[in-house]
Amino acid sequence: MTRVLVVGSGLAGLIAAVRATDAGHRVTLVTKAALSDSNTRYAQGGIAAALFPDDSTDAHILDTLRAGAGLCDPAAVRVLCEEGPARVRDLIRFGVDFDRDESGITRGLEAAHSRSRVLHAGGDATGAAIETALVATVQERAKRAHALGGDQITIHEHTMLVDLIVTDGPGTVRVTGAMLLGPDGTQHAVAADAVILATGGAGALYRHTTNPAIATGDGVAAAWRAGAAVADVEFYQFHPTALAVPGTPLVSEAVRGEGAVLLTSTGERFMPAIHPDAELAPRDIVARSIAAQMKKQGGAPVLLDATGLGRDLLESRFPTITAACRAAGLDWAVQPIPVAPAAHYWMGGVATDCWGRTSLAGLYAVGEVARTGAHGANRLASNSLLEAAVFADRAVRALDAEEQRPPLFDDLEAVAELGSDPDEAGTLVERSTLQELLWEAAGVHRSGSGLTRAAVTLAGWRAVDRARATVAELETGNLLDLGRLIVAAALAREESRGAHHRADFPDSRLELARPRFTRHPASTRPLLTVPSQPSEAIAC
Ligand code: SIN
Repeated sequence: MTRVLVVGSGLAGLIAAVRATDAGHRVTLVTKAALSDSNTRYAQGGIAAALFPDDSTDAHILDTLRAGAGLCDPAAVRVLCEEGPARVRDLIRFGVDFDRDESGITRGLEAAHSRSRVLHAGGDATGAAIETALVATVQERAKRAHALGGDQITIHEHTMLVDLIVTDGPGTVRVTGAMLLGPDGTQHAVAADAVILATGGAGALYRHTTNPAIATGDGVAAAWRAGAAVADVEFYQFHPTALAVPGTPLVSEAVRGEGAVLLTSTGERFMPAIHPDAELAPRDIVARSIAAQMKKQGGAPVLLDATGLGRDLLESRFPTITAACRAAGLDWAVQPIPVAPAAHYWMGGVATDCWGRTSLAGLYAVGEVARTGAHGANRLASNSLLEAAVFADRAVRALDAEEQRPPLFDDLEAVAELGSDPDEAGTLVERSTLQELLWEAAGVHRSGSGLTRAAVTLAGWRAVDRARATVAELETGNLLDLGRLIVAAALAREESRGAHHRADFPDSRLELARPRFTRHPASTRPLLTVPSQPSEAIAC
């Protein structure tokens, strides 16, 4: 029986935990906040899959490759689109109640999809519906195991990943567990045969984000420090339309899919002059066009006019957005609402193969923490929940083949040290200053000079020593590591492609149409080795 440590409780982590339990493994599921707190819960747009007779796997593949701007891994895209329908059916079996009408499951159209293939639940509350169903499924498994006197799955909330434990065995470096910070404020080592990272993205890197504050990239940062290969970290997707009020709640692309249009502050449509698909152009193009328009109008947000959709449709199809507008004192049935881009989804992350396996034996990454290559330089709308479901399932299937060698990544380069150690001199990093810096230098628009200045600033900052840090300090330290990684990768990519746009290199360059796999400079030696008697106890 394999001891599996799953870190994170969004869609990817919950599927991994359920599947691994059902496969007979012993599972420990840890999550930084409450079990139902995750980025998944905030997903509005839905889950895309070629499930309908007028659609095909090939059409979904083509749309995904087009959006990915030449950087997708075709094998990962094929796996995503071929296995997607089966994983959506699994979600239905786990209790997700997708919206239906008299003809069956309803489906929506989103930007850059050639067919209507996006399923929703509760209108724009798809992520919340999926999270609720999967949390109930995991809890039911834990209850059943407990009733039978077993500990096949144990759940530890408010327990944060500090670092991965790496063991230097004969011929291979292996992840053999993790250091965790429990709710009692102490760190514990937990041994595992396999660690599955499902810790999500890092929207908290940026001043404006649609992500919850817990999205601090803890898994990518820990994997990076442990020496795992990462890739495509320069590609951060900015959603074009977050409501321009404190908290920047998401205004789903599906609203534009239903016919809403973007207006300047003086009420003119501007997207038709920029792209033939106008408001439904690929997400990066719409986000950049909005940012450019905001600059022209002195920084004021643009307007999203959904009044033509009518109150009934807005309130029934988009209850979450209706509530967010209402909380901000806006009635979007009668007035255009202010919107602006915000950090939304990280295409880059821990490099994996099509089985969720990373470059370190014993370490898997699934969901947004992973870079599978399925999204390339720009993710197609509503492919993220799908990717989480597909690759979490595959990672568990791969556990039994774990004795195989970890995958090798092309031209894996150890990059130069990006900043100072905690004990070295430097200014203690402040999260809000870091978020401001990343937004300005590595946001929607980038330039070599701005990125160079940001790299110098970041190199002079330091984080609190991880051995003594609180949860908030650990998170900020992770964000500092990731900010350095993103800025270095954005500087190294001297072109514009997908979500990465540089004013000094405005065009794509054919010779750069490939991912860049990098690893920590110190990764030839283990950073944190397993204690001789690893504790399995977590105080909860
Ligand atoms: C949205 O609803 O616009 C977001 C969907 C996604 O990010 O895939």
